[in-house]
Amino acid sequence: MAKTEKLSSGITREEIIPPNPFVKWAGGKSQLLSMYSSFIPETFHAYHEPFVGGGALFFNLYNKGCIKKAYLNDSNSELINLYLCIRDNIEELFEELGKHEANKFSKQYYYKVRNLDRDPESFAQFTSVQRAARALYLNKTCFNGLFRVNRKGQFNVPFGNYKNPNVLDEVNLRAVRRALKNAAITCLDFQQALLVAHSGDLIYFDPPYYPVSATSSFTSYTENSFSFKDQERLAQTFRELDEKGCYVMLSNSYIEPIIELYKGYRIETLMARRAINCQGDRRGPVPEIVVTNY
Ligand SMILES: C[S@@+](CC[C@H](N)C(=O)[O-])C[C@H]1O[C@@H](n2cnc3c(N)ncnc32)[C@H](O)[C@@H]1O
Repeated sequence: MAKTEKLSSGITREEIIPPNPFVKWAGGKSQLLSMYSSFIPETFHAYHEPFVGGGALFFNLYNKGCIKKAYLNDSNSELINLYLCIRDNIEELFEELGKHEANKFSKQYYYKVRNLDRDPESFAQFTSVQRAARALYLNKTCFNGLFRVNRKGQFNVPFGNYKNPNVLDEVNLRAVRRALKNAAITCLDFQQALLVAHSGDLIYFDPPYYPVSATSSFTSYTENSFSFKDQERLAQTFRELDEKGCYVMLSNSYIEPIIELYKGYRIETLMARRAINCQGDRRGPVPEIVVTNY
């Protein structure tokens, strides 16, 4: 059946396709979703994901019909610009993505597009849609689908050499747009993003994990890394939201200094097999914790 053909109910096939995460993201939660289901409260008001990344849990809950209103946030401005363009400017985005789709097998083209951010002045002239298309194209064609920038904020992942990367996945992007229609989308530090949280809301924190060893740090989704001070600030925010009457859930590394920060709350351990890991050197099953205040 053609994807725009009307079904007997009068809706198109595209309209019933459930959205999936549209970027591959370090620390993505897709493989843990079945285990996470048991932690989700039966009812809650708004849903907040202040470290949204690829949004695996958000899309999962949206597809289950659990989300009335969503607040999605991430400090990565290229990622958030992409969310906003999908929601507000999808036709223009498809046009730009089409140009990348046509060149998706060329390594030379990849490095040309990747290195556009080496000249900040001319990069600043790009429209938000051009930037969004670039970010999505790089995510689909770079090595391991890793979004990594160096200290200067320059994208520095090598070419992925994929057989047939899906740069322009129109059907999923339209489904994603539907899921984002009523979402508030911001690019803030997590603490600021949560000023709009109220009693009865569910907050899911999936921060950059605290490294389990000195060599295993993956903290470069954005120019600024997430330090132990940030982890303490996060635990303080967790407590404040608990006192406000929110449902609060958090994932993090299974490691003593982090467990210590959440003493007194329910802490469960899960085994996660990571494809692209916050701890880049560990790809086998690794224990992580889920903390809840309920
Ligand atoms: C573990 S990833 C989230 C993965 C996501 N749950 C998924 O399924 O793909 C952590 C995210 O936190 C973002 N981040 C880092 N520091 C932040 C901050 N201070 N405030 C908000 N977001 C931040 C990163 O850009 C990254 O996307």
